[in-house]
Amino acid sequence: TGIVVLVSGSGTNLQALIDATADPAYGVRILAVGADRAGISGLHRAAAAGIPTFVCRVEDHATRAAWDEALAERIADHEPAFVVSAGFMKILGPRVLGQHVVLNTHPALLPAFPGAHAVRDALAAGATVTGCTVHVVDAGVDTGPVLAQATVEVRPDDTEDTLHERIKAVEHPLLVTLVGRAAREGITVTDGKASIP
Ligand code: GRF
Repeated sequence: TGIVVLVSGSGTNLQALIDATADPAYGVRILAVGADRAGISGLHRAAAAGIPTFVCRVEDHATRAAWDEALAERIADHEPAFVVSAGFMKILGPRVLGQHVVLNTHPALLPAFPGAHAVRDALAAGATVTGCTVHVVDAGVDTGPVLAQATVEVRPDDTEDTLHERIKAVEHPLLVTLVGRAAREGITVTDGKASIP
């Protein structure tokens, strides 16, 4: 099963997926990696693995809608079964979301702490437990149906970096597992509910 992965940053989740695809039994091929900016290590990781890459920048388009349209076309070129947003920091538009199911990984226990600063927000709120969520993207910000979560305890001396590091340690295997299951078994979204058989 072919997928397209979208990244904006360091790409450690992407790397976990790349590593998993080394086993043919995993059943996933990464057809391309797309980004909303150039020069990020997520793109270098893809290139190092011989995976085609593309960059689709909001700044290069007259409107957000034109960017959404262009990104949808770049993704469709590769004919993926579904798309994985792995640290992609732009809100996807209706063209992309109407075209493919998109799985996203988020570093908090949604619906708690949505948005771009989930780890910082969990710390600031004094949460004693946080974690990560794999969910299907809908039109809202981190509001789509949840597929799986894993928890992480917050330590009293945690900084945003140390906590995010420990979240990523559980996030990587959770994402790899869910993407593998969605690829092998299929994923359906009906009436705002997502399920993998
Ligand atoms: C992940 O924790 C993801 O959930 C969040 O940003 C981080 C991306 O990390 N949205 P990486 O680029 O996969 O290393």
